[in-house]
Amino acid sequence: MKNDLVNQQQIQTDKQQLQQLLSVQEKSEIDQLLAHYPQPGGACIDALAIVQKYRGWVSDQAIAALAEHMGISLSELESVATFYNLIFRLPVGRVLMHPCNGISCQLLGYKKIQQQLQTALQIQEGETCADGQITLISLPCLGACDKAPVMLVREAMVDGLPGTSSESLLVNLHCSELELLLQQFKESAV
Ligand code: FES
Repeated sequence: MKNDLVNQQQIQTDKQQLQQLLSVQEKSEIDQLLAHYPQPGGACIDALAIVQKYRGWVSDQAIAALAEHMGISLSELESVATFYNLIFRLPVGRVLMHPCNGISCQLLGYKKIQQQLQTALQIQEGETCADGQITLISLPCLGACDKAPVMLVREAMVDGLPGTSSESLLVNLHCSELELLLQQFKESAV
């Protein structure tokens, strides 16, 4: 009986700590979002995007706090967060490079380009350079098959403040130009 009471108090404390993990601003935006959904589960992706907008990525703790706030199961939210490769579960670099691995780009050299990027950046798919500047994440068709092979390059949203997310850049890729392109991004990061 006493143990049950202690356990309940512990659960209550854990829930309160989780609730405090999200900022007032995050909670407010998530609540506004939830108001548009009959079931909170329908808002998972957008809610995760709100958390990512303020933190740059979504940690395990943030997922737990969000699930608690939304009143959904942790496993439901985890499965959504894991499925979408634009929800980052680890910190990402300042620049996100997304070579397209859609069918047109595959046929026109994606594999070779990805290999070259990995070698030049000394990372594998989904990883970030040692200097923390560039993250490599391939994406399915970017809707520019007529320009294939292409890569989307954009700045990561750092803290949700205006000006911290620049416009995206869609680049047509030729292996011979990759070195130059990477050099430009590295120099702009200094
Ligand atoms: S397959 Fe790469 S843009 Fe469509």
